[in-house]
Amino acid sequence: MRASRGGGLPAVALLAGLAGAAAALAAEARGPAQGPPGLAAERFPRPQRPVAGIVSDRWSSEDSREHAGEAARVLDLLGIRPGMAVADIGAGAGYYVGHLSQRVGPEGRVVAQDLDRGTLDRLGQRVARERLGNVALVLGAPHDPRLAPRSVDLALLVHMYHEIEQPYGLLANLAPALRPGGRVAILDVDGPVLAHGTPRALLSCELAAVGYREVAWHWIEARSIYLAVFEAPAEPPGPAGITPCGAR
Ligand SMILES: C[S@@+](CC[C@H](N)C(=O)[O-])C[C@H]1O[C@@H](n2cnc3c(N)ncnc32)[C@H](O)[C@@H]1O
Repeated sequence: MRASRGGGLPAVALLAGLAGAAAALAAEARGPAQGPPGLAAERFPRPQRPVAGIVSDRWSSEDSREHAGEAARVLDLLGIRPGMAVADIGAGAGYYVGHLSQRVGPEGRVVAQDLDRGTLDRLGQRVARERLGNVALVLGAPHDPRLAPRSVDLALLVHMYHEIEQPYGLLANLAPALRPGGRVAILDVDGPVLAHGTPRALLSCELAAVGYREVAWHWIEARSIYLAVFEAPAEPPGPAGITPCGAR
């Protein structure tokens, strides 16, 4: 049973500049992208492992990623199609945002989310410049993505899981934002956290601790970068029911 919702860090839907506000308002017409605060940060166990620092708003240059066909391949593997609602958690500079916007089309919606206000501001300007009318911006917190309940079919986390200060809180507070059968897809390097990766066993353990079920595993680069797909739990365990990995 899910415990009742509590406080947590204040987080608000961000309207990034006037131009960004116009694009965000167009997307808001589909209903609010931002949800109420989830369970408070202090209720969740801390990870029993290091967390990587946030050093950049992008993984690498968009040109090189485009050259490798990264986004197209990932969105194909995930079956992203018109009409879907997809959240890009830790969207950063927005490499995936334009690709997602185009894939889900005018009937779909992209929620571009990040916890850094400056990053989200710049992303809002990009969304406006590229006239991505189906994109909404949401400012999250380390333990809480702040997405509206039952608002997305898929949450995509690219090269950012290792930076999540409170993975148990973020995953538990994310689950209610997924529609029934909704999925969470995590792309990361299969390597040490402090080298900006998340080892496969650690990822599987932390997701399982919050009730997520692994449904697919793809290698994006042979044995080095993976795309892991999980089904979100209908009822995540309450914070007291989460046993942190490494503490079993
Ligand atoms: C290395 S960048 C990757 C950006 C983008 N996903 C990409 O593939 O280029 C990581 C981003 O995740 C964001 N981030 C880190 N922890 C987060 C959290 N708990 N919730 C939301 N965003 C987070 C950072 O602010 C940063 O913009």
